[in-house]
Amino acid sequence: MKDKLLAKFYEVFGEEEKKAEVYFAPGRVNLIGEHTDYNGGHVFPCALTIGTYGVARKRIDSKLRFYSLNFEEKGIIESSIVDLKPEKEADWTNYPKGVIWAFGEKKHSIPYGMDLLLFGNIPNGSGLSSSASVEVLTGYILKDFYNFEDITNQDLALIGQYSENKFNGVNCGIMDQFAIAMGKKDNAIFLDTATLKFEYAPVVLSGMKLVIACSNKKRGLADSKYNERRSECETAVKELNAHGIEINSLGELSEEKFEEVRSYISNPVCAQRAKHAVYENQRTIKAVDALKNNDIAEFGKLMNLSHESLSKDYEVTGIELDTLVEEAWKQEGVIGSRMTGAGFGGCTVSIVKDEAVDTFIKNVGDVYKEKIGYAADFYVVEIGDGPKKLN
Ligand code: GLA
Repeated sequence: MKDKLLAKFYEVFGEEEKKAEVYFAPGRVNLIGEHTDYNGGHVFPCALTIGTYGVARKRIDSKLRFYSLNFEEKGIIESSIVDLKPEKEADWTNYPKGVIWAFGEKKHSIPYGMDLLLFGNIPNGSGLSSSASVEVLTGYILKDFYNFEDITNQDLALIGQYSENKFNGVNCGIMDQFAIAMGKKDNAIFLDTATLKFEYAPVVLSGMKLVIACSNKKRGLADSKYNERRSECETAVKELNAHGIEINSLGELSEEKFEEVRSYISNPVCAQRAKHAVYENQRTIKAVDALKNNDIAEFGKLMNLSHESLSKDYEVTGIELDTLVEEAWKQEGVIGSRMTGAGFGGCTVSIVKDEAVDTFIKNVGDVYKEKIGYAADFYVVEIGDGPKKLN
């Protein structure tokens, strides 16, 4: 892989004395704790062994040249480190540009441009965080190029999120960048997004696999709907505050407390969204306990409940994700199944017994194609490490 990527890099950008380096940052899948990260709740994601490869070379001028093997038809996309701003024509390169910009905002100005070739083996727009993967990858490269020793992997996550919020205009939480920057093989990350305290929890799936089903639905208005959900939750918090409930976020409420104060939220839609945020956070805490007690059956049940809540109360699933999950629930050997990531298209994650994986893929795939009109893609994935340089 490394040699192939280097050869392609030199073919695209030309050979110069200064040799390019190869890096990798993973994608992520969230096992449970969805739409809780901007609500001060818990999440439980893990990094994957699939992700984004980046070949990079420092320049001696201010030019930025980008090329993606996933979008070869777009050719080399050029810009400059001077006066960085998001541009429609810049397309996917707004992600690495945003990170270079964010380094400057965080008092780590980048003095020179670079040539960067990317290759991602995460399906694009699938909900496995290809954009956060590119962000963390870019940050990791910059840290390595300029020896920013005071920048930790956790900082790379925060810089990535900052760039996505402020440069790319998506008000995402910290989950994706954190899961990617802090990934650890065979472990998921139990993260409290209110404090950023976290712990690694081994995910030992003996005799089982993690199966991702990608809906292949175009995500369309996903970003604006995402921002809308976020503001619905913020409205709920404001109303609770106005009634003397002193919380900073919905993650501070237990289910009981929420039911006690729910009527203060005047808009029923906002109340429904808040309910999801509160219950999902508590579910995540319970799920991690179940996993620690080796109770994978309970973990699976909580995954299923998470999906129901995302479908009915949070309304971020749609017929594609619901079909994938509801069909999964009918299959033998399925421990749990739910949508993962932001929703509105994207993927589901299921825990499936080894011997049932093939029939699972066939049966769910057949029904999906029949009902939706196009095929879903399935991936059996493994939990991997965070970003690295390939030596
Ligand atoms: C997207 C965002 C995350 C998180 C999830 C939903 O992946 O980037 O911050 O909010 O959606 O859980």
